Amino acid sequence: MADLLWQKPGVEVDARIQAFLAGDDVLLDREFFLHDIAASRAHAQGLQRIGMLGAGELEALLRELDVLAGDFRSGAFVLDQRYEDGHSAIEARLTERLGDAGKRIHAGRSRNDQVLVATRLWLKDSLAVVQRHARDAAGVALDRAQAEASLAMPGYTHLQRAVVSSAGMWWAGWAEAFIDDAVRARDTAAWIDANPLGSAAGYGINLPLDRDGTTQALGFGRLQVAATYAQLSRGKFELAALEALGSAMLDLRRIAWDLSLFTGSEFGFVALPPEYVTGSSIMPNKRNPDVVELMRGTYASVAAAKAEIEHLLSLPSGYHRDLQVTKGALFHGFGKGLQALALLPDLLRRMQWRPDAMRAALEPSMYATDLAVDLAKQGMPFRDAYREAADPARWAEGDPAASLAARVSPGAAGDLRLDVLRARLDAL
Ligand code: ARG
Repeated sequence: MADLLWQKPGVEVDARIQAFLAGDDVLLDREFFLHDIAASRAHAQGLQRIGMLGAGELEALLRELDVLAGDFRSGAFVLDQRYEDGHSAIEARLTERLGDAGKRIHAGRSRNDQVLVATRLWLKDSLAVVQRHARDAAGVALDRAQAEASLAMPGYTHLQRAVVSSAGMWWAGWAEAFIDDAVRARDTAAWIDANPLGSAAGYGINLPLDRDGTTQALGFGRLQVAATYAQLSRGKFELAALEALGSAMLDLRRIAWDLSLFTGSEFGFVALPPEYVTGSSIMPNKRNPDVVELMRGTYASVAAAKAEIEHLLSLPSGYHRDLQVTKGALFHGFGKGLQALALLPDLLRRMQWRPDAMRAALEPSMYATDLAVDLAKQGMPFRDAYREAADPARWAEGDPAASLAARVSPGAAGDLRLDVLRARLDAL
């Protein structure tokens, strides 16, 4: 590692201690580096507006920050163990290129608010991706709900055949679920859309920083006003973002379960696109739904990230180095979660039903509820009708289409109200 910014004369750096302190910082900071550069631009512009940088110095800093971003993207600049973290790497590079102007950029900020603003921008981007994937999944589900509204299939409770259902009802459920997930991602993004930059180490600074200017320049919805709240929100906002991701991942886990069951030969209702299944190394006859299973398993990574941050947050107010650990959790949770979610819309678009197997799984008992309610409609008290309809002697092969058409309670097959879901989706 090159010279440490904070190095005191006469104190030896112990490599093992330093490695422990830095952790995986330079690796993780790669994830946040471009956001750190964007926020550094805004900070420099703010410094110039309050007379802490000359116009020429600002111009040179902005130019070199752009060059650094380009070099980082192209791989010409690698954030590695030469640096303590991404923040000091930016300052080191600016100083190397610009001398005194580079040394001026850190006036009025701290690495503590630097990491906050970079991760905050990253969280906003990541939630936008959650929203997009959830919206896409909902869009596919809604289209298929419309197209396959009358395709009959069994409806299960407790994994037991219960009533006649339809692909339309199955899809409509996922459509509304993923609409809600997209809404939650959007609303959480708005909730965390607050600019922490300019809170310095958490207690402000003796400069009239243009915090409103940086809020606008970085596209934040509001200023995070209290300098002391900025550090309190670290981890708490991360957790909220992971919870929003977690809502989508919970639905992903449950739909993956359905697909696992439905592709098994005991059900045989669904065929997956060939890319989504893998062979067995030992059993030549197998086509395994590994993708669906890993999608289901990915919830664990999001849950782990939430747990790690939640356990970490047992802290007094103010900055503590403990907070550094939030970055690994975020990276792991969002990295794995987004990768799984990204595959969902296409999988849903291309999975195929096996209508014959679905039809064959319908049996006379599955019309018993219809019968009980029909008797009640004719005037028999429901509890008596229920008893009557429980008698297997009264069951007969029914008509799935008629059962579905008669299911007119709002949200059921006879009144799916997909237009209401479509309007919510379109508003996203
Ligand atoms: N790497 C730290 C973090 O993620 C930021 C650096 C702050 N270091 C310090 N000694 N104050 O929280």
